[in-house]
Amino acid sequence: MNGQFDEGITLDRFIYETTRAHPTATGQFATLLRQLSLAARLVSNRVNRAGLAGMLGGTGDVNVQGEFVQKLDIYANETIKRALEHAGCVCAMASEEDEGPYFVPERFYSGRYVFHMDPLDGSSNIDVNATIGTIFAIYRRRSEEGTPATLDDVLRPGRDIVAAGYVIYGSGTIIVLATDAGVQGFTLDPALGEFFLSHPDIRLQPEARTKTYSVNEGYAASWPPGLREYVESLKAPGAGWRSRYIGSLVADFHRNLITGGVFLYPATKKNPSGKLRVLFEAFPLAYVVEKAGGAATDGRRRILDIEPTHLHQRTPLFIGNRVHVEDITRVLAEAGA
Ligand code: AHG
Ligand code: MN
Ligand code: MN
Repeated sequence: MNGQFDEGITLDRFIYETTRAHPTATGQFATLLRQLSLAARLVSNRVNRAGLAGMLGGTGDVNVQGEFVQKLDIYANETIKRALEHAGCVCAMASEEDEGPYFVPERFYSGRYVFHMDPLDGSSNIDVNATIGTIFAIYRRRSEEGTPATLDDVLRPGRDIVAAGYVIYGSGTIIVLATDAGVQGFTLDPALGEFFLSHPDIRLQPEARTKTYSVNEGYAASWPPGLREYVESLKAPGAGWRSRYIGSLVADFHRNLITGGVFLYPATKKNPSGKLRVLFEAFPLAYVVEKAGGAATDGRRRILDIEPTHLHQRTPLFIGNRVHVEDITRVLAEAGA
């Protein structure tokens, strides 16, 4: 089923048909997704032309996370915000690249939804032409529509998510969108500028066939107790595992979602709370993986149950097929990590 190309169903048609079925739909959710797809096409175009458009390399700045900012980080961050702020569908946005929340300016209608994003994930891979992406999550606001939003609308547990997904800029550009209707992938036809349903109803592969692990083994010396032994056990003769690690979460996650496997980013000495961001990376992908039949934990608890206390909070992340995530979580507990 995956990879089959159905020219009949565009992303717009899918959005229209699934939101029409919702009795309380106001059209704002559909508008949000349409504007997001416009932003995805703009960013995709810029990513493809990065070497020609002077978009490689850093800006010379360091972001709120203490990381070097790439020109494409800024382009993606601004493009997505500009595409969404005026359309009357969101009241607030939060981004890995911005210190605080971004409330839509008063001149625009303060809509029903809150939007979170890692505008450009894997930015260290930009200059080497490897796969990168945009990760997002959508929440319904708590306060009343049409009034200014507050931090309380923005700082939410992952279980409040109503839709999430990512755009992956790889050998092709794909939007993966998870909602209550399941997980669907839409591939951009660059000549038409249109996304078509290419991966209907994505589900994780049956456990027996899912033997890929993805982790940065360069940090093995500073992993929590138990993890090194677990990863070594995967390499035992006959265990049948393979290893794949790109270093763009979105790309490692997408491969494991399509072919099965598990991604690990534990706490390390350098990043004692893990490296990945709760709101902008872990929550959206945990929502996607659960909708596809998988699981995500921080080594102890379900990722979506984390109650974040600040926007840029980080977490260890173990995500993929349920059986592997449960194995890792048990190993860490037994080792007292
Ligand atoms: P970002 O580019 O948004 O800062 O995220 C980079 C993240 C993530 O994409 C990836 O999984 C991880 O960093 C890789 O980290 P290591 O280089 O430490 O393995
Ligand atoms: Mn990222
Ligand atoms: Mn990023």
